[in-house]
Amino acid sequence: MIPLCVPNLGGNEGHYLQQCIETTFVSSVGPFVRRFEEEVASACDSAGAVATSSGTTALHLALVAAGVGPGDLVVLPSYTFIASANAISHCGATPWLFDVDAASWTLDPALLAERLAAETGRRGDDLVHLPSGRRVAAVMPVYTLGTPCDMDPIVMTAREFGLPVVADAAAAIGATYKGRPLADMGADLSAVSFNGNKTVTSGGGGAVIGNDAEVLDLVRHLSSTARVGSDYSHDRVGYNYRMTNLQAAVGCAQMESLAAFVGAKRQIRATYDRELAGLPGVAPFPQPEWSHSGCWFSGVVLSDPARPAEDVRQRLRGAGIEARPFWKPMHLQEPYVDAPRTGMAVSDGLWHRVLTLPCSTNLSASEQAFVIDSLKKALA
Ligand SMILES: Cc1ncc(COP(=O)(O)O)c(C=O)c1O
Repeated sequence: MIPLCVPNLGGNEGHYLQQCIETTFVSSVGPFVRRFEEEVASACDSAGAVATSSGTTALHLALVAAGVGPGDLVVLPSYTFIASANAISHCGATPWLFDVDAASWTLDPALLAERLAAETGRRGDDLVHLPSGRRVAAVMPVYTLGTPCDMDPIVMTAREFGLPVVADAAAAIGATYKGRPLADMGADLSAVSFNGNKTVTSGGGGAVIGNDAEVLDLVRHLSSTARVGSDYSHDRVGYNYRMTNLQAAVGCAQMESLAAFVGAKRQIRATYDRELAGLPGVAPFPQPEWSHSGCWFSGVVLSDPARPAEDVRQRLRGAGIEARPFWKPMHLQEPYVDAPRTGMAVSDGLWHRVLTLPCSTNLSASEQAFVIDSLKKALA
């Protein structure tokens, strides 16, 4: 099988892991954790980074640090991975689900401005969602497929309504927005994932990045049981969300290849787009002009009803190629069917037509040519 997306572990991963074993630094106390944080911060142009056990826990911490609490609403595009919505739920809050923009599959700035104006009002210092009476506490844009949203108008609207912006940048390491790296795109805090299928992996893990050192200190404090000093004193309910030295060791080795991995991902995307251009019923993944995507995943959008995505997927499987559908929107997921929402025309029309194709950073040119050829046959 040509797999959809597997880690590329050809660097110093084993060597650094061996150092963890030899020095007995296997837990979250260990030199690789700090080194990983410095490398991630440097790659994102961030004032700092707090390494976490996963992207989900990074998102949860970022939301708590941004002041999201029980009963609140957080604006979220419905077309995302369920971890974004779950991180909101872990705060005791609920996502306010928005449709995405058809041209980028990310939060639509015009829709955001329109719905905030139409559906919210002030109650003292709080912004309240008038239909539900709940406080709106934050906006969480999602950088779908490693493609940043059009952040300038989103951040402008959020500021106008007094809302912090916490970006789900799970798959966006290496991406830029109008030439700006992750920490400079406008979000107050951003969460990255280093899950096994991400461009850079630590086996599992995440990081919170941002440019306010005090807020990052709070995130770090929360991530390690809110412990004060070296005794067993804790000043609030914290979490055990730290990354371990073992994960960070793998992450440090992976960061040495960040530029090469992002370059490979972009190359794979460009090849699919070029070779599949003009095929009837096939459209590429979006590349909005404001972003230089990290191209986490590549694939196609299929529009011929005679060739449904699942049918094409099975044909590819028969040829020894793993292809997969992509996210099912949150408003169709059981835990979120009752969440407040806007109309969902774009998300509803999109999600079942998306097919992701092999895009591991070590996919060879001949393997990709075989995938392209097999896809053309499956569609013929
Ligand atoms: C958009 C998005 N948000 C959040 C996450 C969660 O990251 P993790 O799996 O590291 O918890 C992912 C992971 O795939 C993701 O794609």
